Amino acid sequence: MRIFSGIQPTGRKHLGNYLGAIRQYVSGQDRGEGIYCVVDLHAITIAYKPEDLRKSVYDTTAMLLAAGLDPERCILFRQGDVREHTELCWHLASVTAFGELSRMTQFKDKSAKQDLVKAGLFLYPVLQAADILLYQTDEVPVGEDQRQHIELTRDVAMRFNETFGKTFVVPKHVIPTIAARVMDLKDPTTKMSTSARVPDGVVHVLDEEAATLKKFKGATTDSGSEVKRGDDKPGVSNLIEIYAAVRGVAPDAVEQEFVGKRYGDFKLAVGDAVNQYFKPVREKYVTLRADEAELERVLGKGAEKARAIAVKTMQKVRDAMGLKV
Ligand code: TYM
Repeated sequence: MRIFSGIQPTGRKHLGNYLGAIRQYVSGQDRGEGIYCVVDLHAITIAYKPEDLRKSVYDTTAMLLAAGLDPERCILFRQGDVREHTELCWHLASVTAFGELSRMTQFKDKSAKQDLVKAGLFLYPVLQAADILLYQTDEVPVGEDQRQHIELTRDVAMRFNETFGKTFVVPKHVIPTIAARVMDLKDPTTKMSTSARVPDGVVHVLDEEAATLKKFKGATTDSGSEVKRGDDKPGVSNLIEIYAAVRGVAPDAVEQEFVGKRYGDFKLAVGDAVNQYFKPVREKYVTLRADEAELERVLGKGAEKARAIAVKTMQKVRDAMGLKV
């Protein structure tokens, strides 16, 4: 069983990235053949600084290793090191409809924030489909916000197979049952995101303990006083999911644990639990990030292994499409 996922190198990784995706990558190593990719080529579709991008690839790689990815048990690589990603993107662009891409909500959101809306941003989901399909992937662990992109990938794979003969495995998304969409602590009706306007709503994996606690203390809660989930309680519901995810318990059990307790006590408990959860990751990160040569070695070895698979898929694709193999 092959598992593939990608993560952008830009921005600091936050609690949403970690609970929605990164921890699923780590457990994936025990369930199948995990292939994880730092997607530098996706990052250049919006405004960025080249010197920052190079550094943030290392930041993200060190974060994934600190979280528990083991390069002996999975393939961890940088997208730009395997040229077949961009090649397959072009081939898939010729089986993807303009209308399909125009409906992508991430494109609509991101393009609204850019002065120059690049064609690459429009093609972003096609490159993502190429990432996944190159590796004949069965499962794609992602947060809820990526559902639409994975559904597009499935449609494109099925259309390709129908038109040119069976070439790709049609992948499915694996979205966690809790914390699939971690919400902003200050505005719990929007998802936690790197580009949030109010910084206090976003908890970064590498925040200091005091800063983490302060953000949880300041989290927006709802009317009422019970620690209970509900459509009219987006703030408390979000905190319950976070607590459940980091403690490895069911949300119902969290509600039980905090019967009769006040919001203030609960918020502190969530902050404490998150700090405990991130403690080992924060410690390991510092050592791992300090050795760029080693990070480069890990990525280079990963790229070699990834390329061996990608080359074979590309040959099949060229052959199926009537191109020179
Ligand atoms: P990216 O880098 O924005 O996010 C990485 C992962 O984090 C998840 N995520 C969240 N999960 C829960 N709550 C949140 N608030 C939250 N915010 C982010 C995302 O769902 C994602 O799984 N397009 C992708 C990168 C990509 C990719 C791929 C993913 C490129 N190629 C192939 C899967 C397969 C992205 O921008 O993720």
